Amino acid sequence: MRLLRLTKIVSVSLRFGLDRMILDADTSGRLARVWNFVFFWRTYDEPRGVRLRRALESLGPIFVKFGQMLSTRRDLLPPDLADELAMLQDRVPPFPTEQALALLQTMYGKPVDDVFGNFNRTPVASASVAQVHFAELPDGTEVAVKILRPGIEHVIAHDLALLEVAAMLLEKVWPEGRRLKPREVVAEFTKYLNDELDLMREAANCSQLRRNFKDSSLMIVPEVHWDWCGRNVMVMERMHGVQISQIEALRAQGTDLPALSRAGVEIFFTQVFRDGFFHADMHPGNIFVHRDGRYIALDFGIMGTLNEVDKNYLATNFLAFFQRDYHRVALAHIEAGWVPAKTRVDEFEAAIRTVCEPIFDKPLKDISFGKTLLRLFQTARRFEMEVQPQLVLLQKTLLNIEGLGRQLDPELDLWKTAKPFLERWMNEQMGWRALIREIKTEAPSWAGTLPQLPRLIHHTLTESGKQQAAQQARMEQLARQQRRQGWLLSAIGVLAAALLALEAYRVFGS
Ligand SMILES: Nc1ncnc2c1ncn2[C@@H]1O[C@H](COP(=O)(O)OP(=O)(O)O)[C@@H](O)[C@H]1O
Ligand SMILES: [Mg+2]
Repeated sequence: MRLLRLTKIVSVSLRFGLDRMILDADTSGRLARVWNFVFFWRTYDEPRGVRLRRALESLGPIFVKFGQMLSTRRDLLPPDLADELAMLQDRVPPFPTEQALALLQTMYGKPVDDVFGNFNRTPVASASVAQVHFAELPDGTEVAVKILRPGIEHVIAHDLALLEVAAMLLEKVWPEGRRLKPREVVAEFTKYLNDELDLMREAANCSQLRRNFKDSSLMIVPEVHWDWCGRNVMVMERMHGVQISQIEALRAQGTDLPALSRAGVEIFFTQVFRDGFFHADMHPGNIFVHRDGRYIALDFGIMGTLNEVDKNYLATNFLAFFQRDYHRVALAHIEAGWVPAKTRVDEFEAAIRTVCEPIFDKPLKDISFGKTLLRLFQTARRFEMEVQPQLVLLQKTLLNIEGLGRQLDPELDLWKTAKPFLERWMNEQMGWRALIREIKTEAPSWAGTLPQLPRLIHHTLTESGKQQAAQQARMEQLARQQRRQGWLLSAIGVLAAALLALEAYRVFGS
């Protein structure tokens, strides 16, 4: 089965010439010459980005989603590929309404019309994972019913397995590919996709965000109707508004666009610095605007969470950046242990300066936080920093927010809007007020911890011995794994030879 999947990937790769991308990266060019000799009949007029996009489209909706996610990883991908992948559209024909009705009937144990008044048979929207219908609760409340595509779990499990194999192959046959961390990227994608498969989880995210913004004058979030929700179905308040990309319609309803644009930035920084919980799927399809000018958030499949360390990292770096204090930025990384302690501050500082100084060539108001953070991550990677996934998620969301904000109001001053949030947070974290707060929250637990101290010390001392033994075992396991992978490589070699023969037969035989 696995071999079959592998065959499919390799044949699609050959059809769209993806192997060329790998060979082009081979600087010696020797391998490329041999390959061109064998595949002399192949020519490609289209640029590599287009070929990659078409290959993903031909592999199906999950690969399309993967491509979309990949397009946001500008820290890993060259711009030509990222731009092309950003054009992928997650558009899928809706699944038959009978299937939706059958699924709902199984879940509620009675016909849909006994559960909802007025269940609209025509879906409002349909994507690869779910589709949405409007309906009414028995008491007349308008709701939106989000239903998971029947059988999608199997499709996803199948395609994810394919992606994992592809990632492994890429890492094995292409030394340069390792830099792209394909397996890590696929693992991240798997996590998000699995989250999207659980609508109870999405409903919980929605309800948390709603609570966080309960009294907000800037954003509204639908109410979840829990009694009607299940793993495959989410029922929530139906929201009325105009999609944010329809700028003309917004103007027509008299929305103050510059205010809306500032509010977007404010909402984002509030989520990040006040709540440490942010909506991380900020594309225009998920954002609507109410007639009164408030944002309407939808689609809570992907949320980011940040802890105090993450927030501190962000605030410190942003503030230092905008004061062009690269030394402080470099030092903050080393002190926090994000980059290895052996890193030379001056070298790291110089590297950050080199990539960031050009950004600051513009007036402060035009500078992109997202891009600045992206550059920082790219630099930090060169210095062996493992960038945390939640920070990458944040950086991607920042780029979305800024793009959106600038579309609404080209004059948006990001720095002016964001600075108060950063400074307020820093003030609250530093100084004696923060210390007193910390003591207040920590003190009650001291009564419990202090008597345990001697036992804990003893425990720590004995544990370190055990850890050494565990490390030894892990090393041995790694060695065994490496031996097994040798076998795998040979198998891949045989398969590639068979495919070569097949491809040659397809071209010359027909
Ligand atoms: N609560 C709601 N009120 C009104 N429309 C909604 C609501 N929830 C979803 N929709 C509509 O359905 C579309 C798809 O919903 P979304 O949750 O974004 O699904 P997906 O995860 O497939 O993108 C939205 O773009 C919006 O048009
Ligand atoms: Mg959506």
